[in-house]
Amino acid sequence: MLADDLKVLWLNAQERVAVADSQALEELRVSLLGKSGSVTMQLKSLGAMEPELRKAFGAELNRIKNLITEALEARRAVLDAAALEQKLTAERSDVSAPVRPEMAGAIHPISRTTEEIAAIFGAMGFEIKDGPDIETDWNNFGALNIPAHHPARAMMDTFYLNASFANRPAVLRTHTSPVQIRTMLEWARLRATLAQEPPPIRIIVPGRTFRADHDATHSPMFHQTEGLVIGRDITLGHLKGCLIDFLRAFFDNPALPVRFRASYFPFTEPSMEVDIGWNRKTGEIGKGGDWLEILGSGMVHPNVLANCGIDPREFQGFAFGVGIERITMLKHGIADLRLFYESDVRWLRHYGFTPLAPAMLHEGF
Ligand code: DAH
Repeated sequence: MLADDLKVLWLNAQERVAVADSQALEELRVSLLGKSGSVTMQLKSLGAMEPELRKAFGAELNRIKNLITEALEARRAVLDAAALEQKLTAERSDVSAPVRPEMAGAIHPISRTTEEIAAIFGAMGFEIKDGPDIETDWNNFGALNIPAHHPARAMMDTFYLNASFANRPAVLRTHTSPVQIRTMLEWARLRATLAQEPPPIRIIVPGRTFRADHDATHSPMFHQTEGLVIGRDITLGHLKGCLIDFLRAFFDNPALPVRFRASYFPFTEPSMEVDIGWNRKTGEIGKGGDWLEILGSGMVHPNVLANCGIDPREFQGFAFGVGIERITMLKHGIADLRLFYESDVRWLRHYGFTPLAPAMLHEGF
C-alpha cells in the first residue's frame, strides 16, 4: 500500500512535469517539494513509522524525491533553451529589410539658397567661380576702383591680416567682388595667348565674406554671391532682364515687382540698387506698396576693366552682388541672422531642407 502510494506519486509527477512555462514549473515544484508539498508530507510521515518500515520506505521515498528533482531540472533546462531560442529569433535583425526613410541630416538654408542661385544662373549659362577668403587689398579694393580714402577700407570695417603678398597687405575679403578681378585677369591672359577670342565671361561667385560687424543683422562672417558678365555687346538691358528673371525665379513669383534705382558703387558706372515689392507691415514679398532693397548692381566701371587688362572701348559688362543670408531670411521668414551659425539642432531641423530634394529649376522654388 505504501509502496503503491510512492509509485503513484512518481507517475503523477512524471505526468505533470511537461508544463508549458517556468511559472507552471515553479508551481509544480512547490506542490511536490515545497513546505507542504506531497513529497515533503510523505517525508514528515516517516517519523511515525516502525523502524523497519521507515528504513525501506525512507530509502524508496528518497530515490523518488531525487527522480522528481532531476525531472524538474530537466524540464527547467528545456524551458530555458526554448526561451533563449525564442528571444534570439525575435531579436534577429533582418538585413534585407528596407532602410527606414528617416532624415539623417538636413541641408542648411544658406547652402540651399546657394544651390538655388546656382540652379537659376546655371540655367542662364553662368559658370560658378571660387576665390580665396584671404585677398590682397589690391584685389579687394584697389582694382575695384575703391579709392584709398574710402571708408570701407578702414580698420573698423575690414579685418587686416598681419601678412602681405608681394608687398600688398592681406585682408579677409569684405565682398566676393575680388573674384571679378581674378576672373577678368585670367580671361585677359587667356585672350592674349589664344588665337581665338575666349567665350564671354558669365560667372557667379558664391562664397564667404568678412567684415568687422556684429549684431542681429550683421555677422563678422557672412555669404554673398557675386555676378559678372563681360562681352562685346553687353548692355544695361541684359543686366535688368537677368536680375528680374533671377529674382522672380528665386522668390517663386513670376509677377514679383522689381525696381532699379540709381545708386553708387566705385566699381560700376552707372550703378543701381535693385528693390523688390513687399508689404513692410506683414513682411509679405510681392504684395503691398513698399519697396525693399535687395542687391547692388551696375555696368562694370571702365577703370576696373582697364585694371584687368581689358580694353573698355572694346568690352563691357555688368556685375551684381547679393547677400545670401539676407535673401534667405526674406524668403523663409528668419528674423535673426545669428541663428544661421549657432548650430542649434532644433533650428536646423525646422529650417533645414531634405538632401533628397535638390534645388531644380523645373520644380519651381
Ligand atoms: N560688393 C558690394 C558689397 O559688398 C556688392 C556689389 C554691388 C557687388 C554692386 C557688385 C555690384 O558686383 O555691381 O556691398
